[in-house]
Amino acid sequence: MTNKITVLLGLQWGDEGKGKVIDILSPQYDFVVRYQGGANAGHSIVFNNKKYVLHLIPSGIFTEHTKCVIGNGTVVDPDALLDEISLLKNEGIKLDGRLFLSEGAHLILPYHKIIDAINESTSEKIGTTKRGIGPAYYSKYARSGIRFYDFRNEDVLYNKIERNLNYLKRIFPYSDELNELEPIIVFRDQIRKFSEYRKFITDTTELLHNALNDKKNILLEGAQGTLLDIDFGTYPYVTSSHPTAGGASIGSGIPPLKINSVIGVVKAYTTRVGEGPFPTELIDDYGKKIAKLGVEFGATTGRPRRCGWLDLVALKYACEINGVTEIVLTKADVLDEFDEIQVCVAYENNSLKFTRFIPYVDFLNNCKPVYKSFKGWKTHINQFKDYNSFPTEFHQFVEFIENFINTKISFISTGASREEMIIRN
Ligand code: GDP
Ligand code: IMO
Ligand code: MG
Repeated sequence: MTNKITVLLGLQWGDEGKGKVIDILSPQYDFVVRYQGGANAGHSIVFNNKKYVLHLIPSGIFTEHTKCVIGNGTVVDPDALLDEISLLKNEGIKLDGRLFLSEGAHLILPYHKIIDAINESTSEKIGTTKRGIGPAYYSKYARSGIRFYDFRNEDVLYNKIERNLNYLKRIFPYSDELNELEPIIVFRDQIRKFSEYRKFITDTTELLHNALNDKKNILLEGAQGTLLDIDFGTYPYVTSSHPTAGGASIGSGIPPLKINSVIGVVKAYTTRVGEGPFPTELIDDYGKKIAKLGVEFGATTGRPRRCGWLDLVALKYACEINGVTEIVLTKADVLDEFDEIQVCVAYENNSLKFTRFIPYVDFLNNCKPVYKSFKGWKTHINQFKDYNSFPTEFHQFVEFIENFINTKISFISTGASREEMIIRN
């Protein structure tokens, strides 16, 4: 049997329930790897009546034998990292020999967070998490970013910090916060923090290649979601990385042909945090009801999530972009009380009908969803332990989605906790 190399990712605008699913699948894997993003992610895991939210450390960390890797494609804020390390240690989670941080990952430094906040204070705001993600990837792609490698030579590190800060101060001369930052203070602060987490830093590409040679199972954990991808999402209302399956190779060093499955996580409805187009958004009582029953508040920023019906046009596109091999459907239990449930099967734009998602803001802002209506199942689905015992109305909903996107729904999550998951054969 070949070893499993799986990508698990979100198929909407994030918060699909990826953390929960990864936690459940982790016992089957030797490694769980975050390959992009940073502490903008908020992955919730619920067990023993307790909720944990992870921002940077992979969601496999609660499985004792599973090793967790923060890959080269991520952007890492040392403050967020140290906070999370301390939270997990307080919970008695062993990290030594289990947590690995890529030398090639880029740092998020205080000035990145300041710039994120400045950009967000304008009318052109994206609605970011203000975790410094965009500015850190900007530094990376401008080839002036700082990686954990750079701590090998403190003179080089200091010079880079100084050069970056001076450059940014010239671009943002009116920012007191930025102007007050002294390169030497930033440098010393980073050196001190580095000493606290340096033992986790390693060549994770080599680590993962050894794991491949040893036939280990590896789960690549996507953050955010397909529609937030910098290329395939609703640009510019996106994040600055590649949550899509292609990003998994780049962000980990695992060759594309080694990946043998792609699991997509999708909510039974849609949510979005921040600005940007959202054709099926419900700004009426239905939207409020979903938000309330689904407790739709951001796991990172606490912001209310915008809610709407499931968009199959967008979902089909997400399945195609990622080559999704199977689906996990989450949070259908949130719809338990609804008499009627809608799913979007096409868009109407300028009297024309579209069945293909085009990730172009002006187009999407002008789209009116065409809905197919389903009768609600009106019962608590978390009482059922196998798919066959679910009500017919639920079967009709699930099977319609499957046929539309031509992909099997293999798992159905019926609540937030670990136990609430049905595997469908
Ligand atoms: P992630 O970013 O994709 O990991 O998702 P989040 O953790 O940000 O948001 C998902 C939220 O839904 C969390 O509060 C989860 O605990 C919760 N959740 C996950 N799956 C289910 C489910 O099937 N039903 C319900 N009711 N809640 C769920
Ligand atoms: P998880 O992994 C939902 C959104 C922000 C904003 C846009 C850009 O928990 O699914 P950024 O801070 O990345 O520059 O913000 O992306 N966003 C998320 N939305 N879930 C997330 O992560 C998100 N990470 C970023 O709200 O609209
Ligand atoms: Mg989240």
